[in-house]
Amino acid sequence: MKKTMAIMLLWCLGIGAAIADEVPQVANVLARQTFSLNGQWNYIIDVQEEGYYDYRMNPTQWGFFRNAKPQKPEDLIEYDFDKAPTMQIPGDWNTQDARLFFYEGTVWFKRTFDYHPTNNRRTLLYFGAVNYDAHVYVNGRKAGHHIGGFTPFNFDVTELLKDGENTVIVKVDNKRHAEDVPTQIFDWWNYGGITRDVLLISVAPTYVENYTLNINQDVRKKKGFYTIRFNAFLNKKEAGQIITLSIPELKVNEQLKTSDNGRASLSFAFPAKRLQLWSPDNPKRYRVEISLNGETLVDSIGFRTIETRGKQILLNGKPIFLKGISIHEEKPYGGGRANSTADAHTLLSWAKELGCNFVRLAHYPHNEYAVREAERMGILVWSEIPVYWTIAWTNPQTYSNAHRQLTDMIRRDQNRANVIIWSIANETPHSAERDQFLSRLAQHARSLDNTRLISMAMEVTSASNYKNRLQDNMHEYVDVVSFNQYIGWYRDVNDAPKMTWEIPYDKPVIISEFGGGAKYGLHGAKNQRWTEEFQENLYRENCAMIDKIEGLAGTTPWILKDFRSPRRVLNGIQDYYNRKGLFSDNGEKKKAFYVLKEWYEGK
Ligand code: GCU
Repeated sequence: MKKTMAIMLLWCLGIGAAIADEVPQVANVLARQTFSLNGQWNYIIDVQEEGYYDYRMNPTQWGFFRNAKPQKPEDLIEYDFDKAPTMQIPGDWNTQDARLFFYEGTVWFKRTFDYHPTNNRRTLLYFGAVNYDAHVYVNGRKAGHHIGGFTPFNFDVTELLKDGENTVIVKVDNKRHAEDVPTQIFDWWNYGGITRDVLLISVAPTYVENYTLNINQDVRKKKGFYTIRFNAFLNKKEAGQIITLSIPELKVNEQLKTSDNGRASLSFAFPAKRLQLWSPDNPKRYRVEISLNGETLVDSIGFRTIETRGKQILLNGKPIFLKGISIHEEKPYGGGRANSTADAHTLLSWAKELGCNFVRLAHYPHNEYAVREAERMGILVWSEIPVYWTIAWTNPQTYSNAHRQLTDMIRRDQNRANVIIWSIANETPHSAERDQFLSRLAQHARSLDNTRLISMAMEVTSASNYKNRLQDNMHEYVDVVSFNQYIGWYRDVNDAPKMTWEIPYDKPVIISEFGGGAKYGLHGAKNQRWTEEFQENLYRENCAMIDKIEGLAGTTPWILKDFRSPRRVLNGIQDYYNRKGLFSDNGEKKKAFYVLKEWYEGK
């Protein structure tokens, strides 16, 4: 008992420490007054981090964050950002400088810009994501530190900015560590750098930092009415602020006043027949205006319900089969981190060509453009944090890191109608410590957002004589029981037809991964590894096998497109690509694409 208490105490301290140095993130940033710092940034590769640690030797002079220049001819300054090369930000460094293709370490980035802050306004410095560990400086002074490669963060830099020329310097380090989230092993490329937008955001001293607007599913649907619920959160605990919620198309115009915790909430009944629900067939979103003290935040919000009933997933009260596909956040052509509506539109259009109504954005929160483009296109989303494989389950800092990434993923996308599942893990080995870690994450996710389903990708404990059994203690903490299986690829090749399944949980089941590899253009017998025919046959046999699983609610086969991975080194076939894509890394369809497309057409 004492040990547990000690761990719990450490955990609490850990959470305090890791989260304390970061501010809650501001939501819906593109609707705010922004000044983009995207563009060409100078960069210095600092393998031994001399620009960070050596300044202790000479605390007044050293440190790349000072952007120091020689004052006298004899001055020695051994770096100069202005003489350094530049790269496009946002963008990973691996695909912009051949010297950095495999690089894992520190790169310093610098951007100088003219800025004229308006008095009596605050200025936030926002990053859509930096992989993995970022120290941010403005005009030589520390703005803040953030860890986590796929979630947004911002710092209030009002006091650090000058009127006129300013300099932002960021130390980015993508080295992997066992105590990180993800850990030091994962099957995707460790793209480093400032991989998403960098913005200055001008806000009033008191502003609406975040909000939720959705159908309250806890309230029994009164005959013919939905209950719509709106919560607004100021950036500070301030009472008496008047917030206006307007949805012009629905003739909704409500005023609400914040209480002393800086929050305001409102619930109202709305006639069901006047509300077009969001769905894949009709991805209806409404213009929403949220005003405070003369400033208006505009968003596009869809309304829908998502719930489970036994083994069914119900969207807007009707059972839906999730015809999905898994996707990594890589550009459709040539690889590298994707971060645009155009990239997302191409990948999601390929998913639509497959007949998908659902995508699993693996294995980390994708950029906001992708989630919003999927919402516009009518594609449901499974969004997940990279609690992947062998996480340091008993390390309090690891837990607070995962806790923070989960919070920031939910806070950023909690108003996206198409996001229906938050996933807290992928293929994590069973243990009491893992169950403790994940059950806390599941409870935390539910405490932040009880309007969506919680899941995680489990592993099948395959039994003997072709009987596959799913047994995972986490079944009681999730709404949807999902698991990955690689029959036909990693095991039981050609035995898919003999397989039977035992999934003893009265909850919806999603097969969150199945599939196999093929090199595009390589043809041969269907038992010849890496041929398109092998992959085609594997999909045919798996789809037939899956059809025998009663009560299946959906699948997200692995994976839409070949993607880079340092673990896939087979020369001439993989060449540092995971070849399980239905599309090649050049966007060419493999034969298995047509098998899955036909299978989905029959669903
Ligand atoms: C695992 C894992 C994926 C990985 C895939 C594979 O299940 O979840 O991230 O890429 O299998 O082996 O290709």
